[in-house]
Parts: sequence; structure tokens; C-alpha cells
Amino acid sequence: MKLLVTGGAGFIGSAFIQYVLQTQAQVHIVNVDKLTYAANHAWLCELEHEPRHQLERVDVSDAPALERVFARHQPDVVLHLAAESHVDRSIEGPAAFVQTNLVGTHVLLETVRHYWMQLPLARKAAFRLHHVSTDEVYGDLMDAGTPEPVREGAAYAPSSPYSASKAGADHLVLAWHRTYGLPVVLSHACNNYGPRQYPEKLIPVMIQQALQGLKLPVYGAGTQVRDWLHVDDHACALWAILQRGQIGRSYHVSAGHRLENIALVRQLCALLDELHPQGRPLGLGGRPESYASLIRHTPDRPGHDRYYALDASRLMAELAWVAQHSFEQGLRDTVKWYLANP
Ligand SMILES: NC(=O)c1ccc[n+]([C@@H]2O[C@H](COP(=O)([O-])OP(=O)(O)OC[C@H]3O[C@@H](n4cnc5c(N)ncnc54)[C@H](O)[C@@H]3O)[C@@H](O)[C@H]2O)c1
Repeated sequence: MKLLVTGGAGFIGSAFIQYVLQTQAQVHIVNVDKLTYAANHAWLCELEHEPRHQLERVDVSDAPALERVFARHQPDVVLHLAAESHVDRSIEGPAAFVQTNLVGTHVLLETVRHYWMQLPLARKAAFRLHHVSTDEVYGDLMDAGTPEPVREGAAYAPSSPYSASKAGADHLVLAWHRTYGLPVVLSHACNNYGPRQYPEKLIPVMIQQALQGLKLPVYGAGTQVRDWLHVDDHACALWAILQRGQIGRSYHVSAGHRLENIALVRQLCALLDELHPQGRPLGLGGRPESYASLIRHTPDRPGHDRYYALDASRLMAELAWVAQHSFEQGLRDTVKWYLANP
């Protein structure tokens, strides 16, 4: 099988490709990535001599380049992860988010549609495009009063330029299914954590700041609730959905582990106190203090959603997916990874 992955040099893409290379001996991967700041070059170097992985440095919104990639590699399935993914950046500069997440998804859909239409019947029947999305498209669940985990098909109410661009991309993907019959499947995942995440997202930012003795900035009171999923559990879910998900449907991916941001930061500090005590900040009299003494509350992010939660029972019941990582162990391993990979 030839699997084309967009955004495969990023955090989730690298975990997914690693998972597939380790578990599926018959799969060859074409990794279409623009290599933005978020791409992980160290990980790509590790893959340099992997015969089942080929990198194509291409922007998904560049139609002629993308057409050439499809013509050259003739993929059997496509997993679409490429995106601008950081909410704070989307508030400072939304244009790149509209360009990659909306225009790029449109260009990919049109390229895939033309490619798929000319496939021989058997390959056409087996083909699918899996679009990866986020719980953020549902907006702030606290707006409803009592937040309940969201099921597939709930109304969209995106708050940030990032989530609005992802919501728009989802609508395009579903429209290409309904209007042109393109075989698509979607998934919506909650906050991922694990190794190789670019140090602008909450967990790696906190670890890196703490290790340098810098302040740990927490938005507002830090009471925003997020639903945490180990990236390797996400990779395993993506493979199951790509293989066996029903065309035209979405699947929620969540391990049901919800936590306030401030509790997460405190948990990280406690792990660092234990695993890296020699780096603790010095307090009055030069005595080492907990990393938690570095926590500082900052003005809240504009439009900050207070509560995200996904109900993943469809994925668990229909595709027999179960998260393998406990949050406690997963977070501990993640901290150890960042300590070993400064
Ligand atoms: N990280 C999360 O917690 C999370 C949760 C749910 C859904 N998602 C979604 O999963 C996908 C991957 O997220 P991530 O955290 O791995 O992101 P990331 O920012 O770590 O990686 C994105 C990758 O896409 C590439 N890319 C960006 N623009 C591109 C373009 N125009 N053409 C080709 N490649 C481009 C980058 O170079 C990078 O390698 C995104 O679609 C994101 O919306 C992420």
C-alpha cells in the first residue's frame, strides 16, 4: 500500500509515520510537507535511510506541485494532517491559517478528486482521504452551562482563527463527499501530548521554560479544561480509522482525561522536581524551591475557550480502539523525553 501523508514532519505526523513503519511492513509512505518552522528536522534525519519513507517538500496549497506528487507516487490512500496548528499564532497572524488550512485543503481536495476519478475501478473503490481535525471546532463547551463531552455531529462554534479555519476545512471535505462522492473520513482529536512537539504548545513550553529557570506563564486563572491524549494513542486511532472507518463519517479521538491547565502545570512541576531536582530555582537564602514557584498568571488569551471534551464511544465501540497510555505514565515519559532531548 502506498500511503500519502501531508504534514508528516510535524508532531502528530511523525508519531503516525513511526507507528506505521513499525507495525505495517507492507506500507510505503510519501510524506508531503512544506517543512515550516513546526517540522521536526532531527526526526527527518533519523528517517534518511528508511526505504519505505519518501519526503516531498511541497506546500499543499501549490496545485501544480501537488499534482506532480500524485502523478509520481500514485497513492492508494491519503491522510491529511498538514496545517498551521498553533492558536496563539493564529490570533497574531490569521492569514497563514486561512492559506494552509482552508486554501490548502481545497487544493488537496481538488487534486485528490481529479486523481481519484481516473483510477482503475478496483483502486478507485479502495481509495479514501482521511482528514484530521480538532475538538476546537466545537468551541467553548462552557457556553452551554454544564459542559458534556461532545459526540460526532454536534454543531460547530469555533472561537479562534485556528479553529475557524479547521472548521471550514471540515465543511469543505464533507461537501466534496456529498457533491462529488469523494470517499472521505474525518477524525476530531483532543489535545495531544508526547515527544517531539514543537516548544510553543503548553507542555513543551512549560518544560523548557522551567529548565531555563524562566517564568511559567499561565493564561488567566488557569482553570481552562483540556482533554489530553497521548500522541501514540492518536497514531493508533488514525490507523484504525484510515483502515476501517465508515466513509462520510467522523470519529472522535479522546482518552477521556480532562484536566485544568493549572493542575497540569503543577503536575509537570512535580515531575521536574523529582526527575531533575538539580535544576530547581533558588529561593531566599539560596535554597532550592519547587519549579512551581516559577508559575505566573498572565492576562488571558482573547476568546479563550474554557472547556473542551470529546466523547469517543463511537471509535471505541465500532473500531475497538482503546487508549494504551495512562496520563500519569504518558506525562512522566514525555518529561523524560524532553530532559533527554534538550
Ligand atoms: N496537536 C494537537 O493537539 C492536535 C489535536 C487535534 C488535531 N490536530 C490536527 O492534527 C494535525 C497535525 O497537528 P500537529 O500538532 O502535528 O501540527 P504541527 O504544527 O506539529 O505540524 C504540522 C506539519 O504540517 C506542515 N505544514 C504546515 N503547512 C503546510 C503546508 N502549507 N503544506 C505542507 N505542509 C505543511 C508543517 O511543516 C509541519 O510538519 C493538524 O491538522 C491539527 O489541526 C492537532
